[in-house]
Amino acid sequence: MKFFLGNFAKLIGLGFAVLTIPIQANDNLVRSLPLEQWLPRQEKVALKNLLRNISPPGAAKGAVVASPSQINPNYWYHWVRDAALVMSFIVEQYRNTGDPNQKSYYLDLIWDYIDFSRTNQLTATPSGGPGEPKFNVDGTVFMGPWGRPQNDGPALRALTLIQFAKTLLSEGKYEEQRRLSSIIKFDLEYVLHHWKDACFDLWEEIKGHHFYTLLVQYRSLVEGASYMGLVGDNSASDSYAAGAKNLETELQRFWDSSRGYLQSTLNRVGGIEYKNSNLDSSVILGVLHAASSDDFFGVDDPRVQATVLKLKEKFKSLYATNQMGPRGVGIGRYPEDKYDGYSSEGEGNPWVLATNGFAEFFYKLRNRYRSKGEITVSQLNRSFFKEMGFTFPLGKIRKTEPLFEQVLKKLQEEGDQYFERVKFHADSDGQMSEQMNRWSGYQQGARDLTWSYASFLTALRMR
Ligand code: NOJ
Ligand code: NOJ
Repeated sequence: MKFFLGNFAKLIGLGFAVLTIPIQANDNLVRSLPLEQWLPRQEKVALKNLLRNISPPGAAKGAVVASPSQINPNYWYHWVRDAALVMSFIVEQYRNTGDPNQKSYYLDLIWDYIDFSRTNQLTATPSGGPGEPKFNVDGTVFMGPWGRPQNDGPALRALTLIQFAKTLLSEGKYEEQRRLSSIIKFDLEYVLHHWKDACFDLWEEIKGHHFYTLLVQYRSLVEGASYMGLVGDNSASDSYAAGAKNLETELQRFWDSSRGYLQSTLNRVGGIEYKNSNLDSSVILGVLHAASSDDFFGVDDPRVQATVLKLKEKFKSLYATNQMGPRGVGIGRYPEDKYDGYSSEGEGNPWVLATNGFAEFFYKLRNRYRSKGEITVSQLNRSFFKEMGFTFPLGKIRKTEPLFEQVLKKLQEEGDQYFERVKFHADSDGQMSEQMNRWSGYQQGARDLTWSYASFLTALRMR
């Protein structure tokens, strides 16, 4: 039914869809809830549904299914990337809870995930290494044709495991922490020796070098160097630090000064050919997933901010749903996208995880400026501020000026607008799919996408 309505809205065209709001009425009750009431309500649902997808009945312990959907599309697999991002959220849950029952519950989930991952690492795969993108839910290798390798996977997994290992260190659990070192090193050694290889991007479509992949690889080596330093493995620490330096240089090449944004892929050698803009929200996801407190391609990098603005403008005009409802824009993967959640001959839609990612970006930027105590306005990010209603001269805004707090407040409001967009298209039961139909706004593609929930919860935590 929903699918039909989506296509119907499409048939009658954008102009009409704008006028006939009822086509789009997902749930009026949810829609009328103020954000402050919706967020805690959605938080409960998201957490519950996310947890349901970890070690679900029918899967091995520690498997994180991308979605319970087993047909149209079949997402009943353990994707290394999705799982690492979801488990990074779980590690934070473990760290933050004071309740001993909760703590041991999360601890079990994490160790199951680690055991499952270790099996993945030691299994012979078609791609021949830890860049294998997905596994069957019983832990056996997936042999079908696929875009492989995807070398962001091992980097993201290493980041999650380092985050956990550091937590164990801080709790004085040295024996458990030691069990992790070889698993972490397995992934990091691969990153160190293979970052130059062309691989498939996180959307599993283009073979080449990708900003997203290289940035999370860079961060895994930086974190790896610091962790190995902490545990006294100085030779590993030194080699990861040296590797990170090389990646640092490589990543600078993605800035396209004539188009004014960071490109998603360089040196394409295979895969889809129609992504002409090279403009992709994965650049911003990379900045979020390679989270750090240093300045390297962080949320306050003017090149990142310029890219955020370009993406926002592009997706605003591209999707009919963005012409109605809240100011916040539904964000897609990239403008030329043809993957509708079922087939690659369709047309792209806004994605829940990308829109939540934009909310997170603005909250994170607010936090970043707050801790820095100053905002730097340059030629590159001036339009980014202009679009939010600020006309700034080049230079610094310091926390002693009243303007500083105004900007911070505005950033929070911006983030909230993206959450408003997600709320606007939410189901009454809080179910979140992969996408939101670009014509009707209905949830579309894999239902209960684990990563959609994780992106919501991570952004909310940042808020
Ligand atoms: C499935 C992939 O997961 C998705 O990212 C891609 O767009 C489609 N296949 C089409 O290639
Ligand atoms: C398709 C997405 O493009 C990819 O990034 C993701 O890993 C899989 N779906 C599974 O959720």
